[in-house]
Amino acid sequence: MKLLVIGSGGREHALAWRLARSPRVHKVYVAPGNGGTEEGDLLQNVPLTSAEELADFVVREGVSLTVVGPEAPLAAGVVDVFRARGLKIFGPTRAAAQLESSKDYAKAFMVRHGIPTARYETFTDPTKAHAYIDEQGAPIVIKADGLAAGKGVVVAADLEQAHAAVDAMLGDGSLGQAGARVVIEECLVGEEASFIVMVDGRNVLALATSQDHKRLLDGDAGPNTGGMGAYSPAPIITPELHHRIMREIILPTVQGMARDGIPYTGFLYAGLMIAPGDDPDRAIKTLEFNCRMGDPETQPIMMRVKSDLLDALEHAVEGTLDQADIVWDRRTALGVVLAAHNYPGTPRSGDVIAPLPADTEDCAIFHAGTRLEDGQLKTSGGRVLCVTALGDSVRMARERAYTAVDAVQFDGRQYRTDIGWRALRPSQQKTKP
Ligand code: AMP
Ligand code: GLY
Repeated sequence: MKLLVIGSGGREHALAWRLARSPRVHKVYVAPGNGGTEEGDLLQNVPLTSAEELADFVVREGVSLTVVGPEAPLAAGVVDVFRARGLKIFGPTRAAAQLESSKDYAKAFMVRHGIPTARYETFTDPTKAHAYIDEQGAPIVIKADGLAAGKGVVVAADLEQAHAAVDAMLGDGSLGQAGARVVIEECLVGEEASFIVMVDGRNVLALATSQDHKRLLDGDAGPNTGGMGAYSPAPIITPELHHRIMREIILPTVQGMARDGIPYTGFLYAGLMIAPGDDPDRAIKTLEFNCRMGDPETQPIMMRVKSDLLDALEHAVEGTLDQADIVWDRRTALGVVLAAHNYPGTPRSGDVIAPLPADTEDCAIFHAGTRLEDGQLKTSGGRVLCVTALGDSVRMARERAYTAVDAVQFDGRQYRTDIGWRALRPSQQKTKP
């Protein structure tokens, strides 16, 4: 069987790598792909990005099933285009992708369906937004309504930052349409976790839990990034919290979308804030929805899939996810992102990457911002590689990953040396499911 994965990041490489291990798959095309998704006979890049061209390609090559990685093609309606042509694709429609592509839509949806989230108001008028900030006080969170490639959220520690964020978003149009409306919300405290599920419109199959590290530098300092590393499972999500998240957040979301006439299909990612402490009733609130898997969360999650992921995907597109299961490796997987010089500003491209160590049974290097130029691998984006390893404990996965990181060389590489620190706290070791 031939499959197509749309996207070019580390998430897509990990997804294609896992799918290529299905005994029923003999080719996974990746469009447009990266320097790592060219490998061997099983993975092949396709230099196409438009939905119509991709649909033509799928028909021409006899591709059985397409999976979409990133949010941009989903928000642009690639699933609608494929479905209109009777092609099998896993992802949300353009309307359903609004859960990610419009923060205002997502917040109004959550309020309407009783899904716990931070208190908020939406503004288009800067004067009213400034007045609301003065009334609420700081800390406070300012979010651009639309997709802003990770640049649309400001967690303002004081009023000055909050007002400046409103001016930047509503005032000078620096985020274009994405910033034409802002959501201003209560600042939540606690620990974040990523909860990703597969949805077929009605049924839900949860993936393994994960946590990522959004800040550039050790100790969660420095600017926000797309994510500098991740691990799975997230020890904070005990079986009790897992059950509550399904009951209080995931199932009401899927049922709410169906009731609103926009059934949700695809991966659904709930970014959660779990209140501090160990009270089993502590608040769990939804910070955001993404209409896709996380990057880099997908890399460790895919390392832990032991069963045939294609089975689950087929059930997902047929609407029979209630009959699907995924067997998870009980070990921890941990991924360390190596980023290019000057990431997350304007990353430098074109640095030569020295030959990479070969993947092993328990360590794989997923590519993101890489390209092959005359047989030589070079950097071509902000996040370049994600070195991902399995281990019997967080500590062992981490040691294995960092040993491989040491063997990866390119000029200007940046990475954090403390990925997984939260999961290594003594309190977390006890609660690990
Ligand atoms: P979002 O794109 O909505 O996930 O926001 C990006 C990051 O901003 C989140 O991962 C959090 O670290 C932070 N954040 C978003 N909303 C809030 C909130 N209401 N309170 C505290 N931090 C937040
Ligand atoms: N790692 C966070 C995200 O994919 O949105």
